[in-house]
Amino acid sequence: MPESTLNIPLDKLPRHIAIIMDGNGRWALQRGLPRLAGHKAGTENLRRIIRASVEFGIQYLTIYAFSTENWGRPPEEVQGLMGIVQDVIDRELEELNREGVQLRHIGRLERLEPRLRGKVLKAIERTKNNDRLILIVAFSYGGRDEIVWAIQRMMKDGILPENVDDEMVSRYLYTAGVPDPDLVIRTSGELRISNFLIWQAAYSEWYFTPTYWPDFNKDEYRLALEAFAHRERRYGKVSSSELQESNA
Ligand code: IPE
Ligand code: IPE
Ligand code: MG
Repeated sequence: MPESTLNIPLDKLPRHIAIIMDGNGRWALQRGLPRLAGHKAGTENLRRIIRASVEFGIQYLTIYAFSTENWGRPPEEVQGLMGIVQDVIDRELEELNREGVQLRHIGRLERLEPRLRGKVLKAIERTKNNDRLILIVAFSYGGRDEIVWAIQRMMKDGILPENVDDEMVSRYLYTAGVPDPDLVIRTSGELRISNFLIWQAAYSEWYFTPTYWPDFNKDEYRLALEAFAHRERRYGKVSSSELQESNA
């Protein structure tokens, strides 16, 4: 069982949290800074949230860092983001490794420049035996793209139509073997999914906050987890308390 510094019963703690880290650009704009300064501040914050996740006893954390659609941003911003990823791996990898974080990636690595792709693959290899926190980085990731890729591979493998079911599809996604996210957090006030984990989040609980990602701190993270602990997940069924009442 994971250990947690939170005052929440362990069975009310999400096992898998996914975060849409949004609002870096507006955070920077608000301060009269270039967008890239916002992305740098967002990366600093990510480090804090990873640490808090370890402390809170979260098993899986998936972060949306760059979408398939984000390739359409101005080339300077795309280049700048690639540079940030490179720096983060250079600066943070050993520390993350020491903390027991296992890095994984979901998305299209082949679209990255070979040098960066190599660094990412090395980081994954370096941390593969860690199990304190599984950190899944969605980079060059799109939910539709993932489903298309899964269908292509099922067809190449000659899977018969009658053998395709929910479980089979899940096994062909990038997230094969990972439990679906219990909680998805989106910062910056946007109320949409933006092509993130569209299959996996079918029954996730959502937490939206107007806070821009660089300002989403540990206290607010804790609030999100407390809010989650009070949710009742019904999965289309009837509330368990109602059932007890009607049986009484
Ligand atoms: C999220 O922040 C980070 C990425 C998409 C890479 P944004 O860059 O989308 O920030 P806003 O939404 O423009 O404020
Ligand atoms: C979603 O944010 C992608 C990431 C946070 C990486 P966007 O800022 O790209 O999404 P939209 O354009 O507001 O839907
Ligand atoms: Mg945005």
